[in-house]
Amino acid sequence: MSKVRIYTLAKELGLENPKMLEILDGLGVSYKSVSSTIEEDTVELIRQIVDEENAAGGGTSAQSSAPITQSDEAAAAPSAPASQGTQSAAAGGQTATQTRQETAAASEVPHRAPVVTIMGHVDHGKTSLLDYIRKTRVAAKEAGGITQHVGAFEAQTSKGKIVFIDTPGHEAFTTIRARGANVADIAIIVIAADDSLMPQTREAIAHAQAAKVPMIIAINKMDLPQANPDKVKTDLTQLNLVPEEYGGDLIVVPVSAKTGEGVEDLLEYISLNAELEDLRADPKGKFAGVIIEGKVDKQAGVLATVMVQEGTLHVGDFLVVGENYGKIKAMTDSAGARIKEAGPSTPVQILGFSEVPTSGEKVSSAKNEHAAREVIAGRASDRRDAENAQVQRKLTLEEMMGP
Ligand code: GTP
Ligand code: MG
Repeated sequence: MSKVRIYTLAKELGLENPKMLEILDGLGVSYKSVSSTIEEDTVELIRQIVDEENAAGGGTSAQSSAPITQSDEAAAAPSAPASQGTQSAAAGGQTATQTRQETAAASEVPHRAPVVTIMGHVDHGKTSLLDYIRKTRVAAKEAGGITQHVGAFEAQTSKGKIVFIDTPGHEAFTTIRARGANVADIAIIVIAADDSLMPQTREAIAHAQAAKVPMIIAINKMDLPQANPDKVKTDLTQLNLVPEEYGGDLIVVPVSAKTGEGVEDLLEYISLNAELEDLRADPKGKFAGVIIEGKVDKQAGVLATVMVQEGTLHVGDFLVVGENYGKIKAMTDSAGARIKEAGPSTPVQILGFSEVPTSGEKVSSAKNEHAAREVIAGRASDRRDAENAQVQRKLTLEEMMGP
């Protein structure tokens, strides 16, 4: 019998991936990621564990948020091998139940959508890939209002919302990383199958590694006759990035932005990765965000694209960025629709700043105009103190050096 990928089995049994991994850990089965394959014997064992748990009081279906599509297949699974198997099955089952209880306690903060940055060499097809996803995945909304091109957008997928950021042009990722505010949860490195690794590919990989953001490789332009995905994989190996099929843990997905081939798989890998990272943010918490890009529009004035990371933004809120503040006059989502509020993992375009904010700057909110001014005054005075201290230091140094 053939091997089965971990996430495929999880899906079939209606388990969330982290829980499936807990069961595997409980059984002492080693794996690299949820896309690793497991042996048929182990698969049977896991089916049995899940079966037993369900029989023992519906533990899985009662507490798991995943729907139990249970399991004609699981029920039909051969009712299993040796007694040794049954023992470990019971042990594994216990582990899984415990984990579910712990998860339930820790899960008061709701999940948020993953933020995915698309990076790679010029012309390797980053924007085309996003265009393909956008066309098929963004619910059509009437564009209007203050909408402009936004380098970030939300896509609805079968696995829920995913937020994408296209990096070229504003090079948001570089500046954002330089300022220590990581917006990306996952980086997709796009590599053209006919071109393989190029200087900016290596740069993009280095950025993702420095920011400690998990990477997924999309080998694009697979529709071209000269596409050579094997060369891409070999070249990656030379950077010590070893694709899964070569025994490493790098996820590599062949795609075509032109035909759409592989795009569904890519979205699937993104959701799997996000699920493993267990991304959460509190919409009721204190607001925190990051500037993705800022610009001046001739008609509208200063426009800022902000990624909401924590809390919720409302039209009328006061925002502070560096030593500037603004009041949100209008807000649009990435499809150009006017919105009144925006929760975590939402990129929004905001009208209301008087100065153009810089990519990567952190955004906070203030109760009212007075509070916003106070925050800014505090920052300005801190900055002046730091500047004075620097001048002092320089003077002291000069004094020490003598005339
Ligand atoms: P920059 O933003 O300039 O870095 O480029 P990019 O990576 O966003 O590339 P873009 O999407 O603009 O695509 C560059 C060229 O490659 C365009 O002419 C696309 O039509 C073409 N292209 C992109 N994806 C594919 C693909 O999957 N197959 C084929 N045949 N052509 C593609
Ligand atoms: Mg582009």
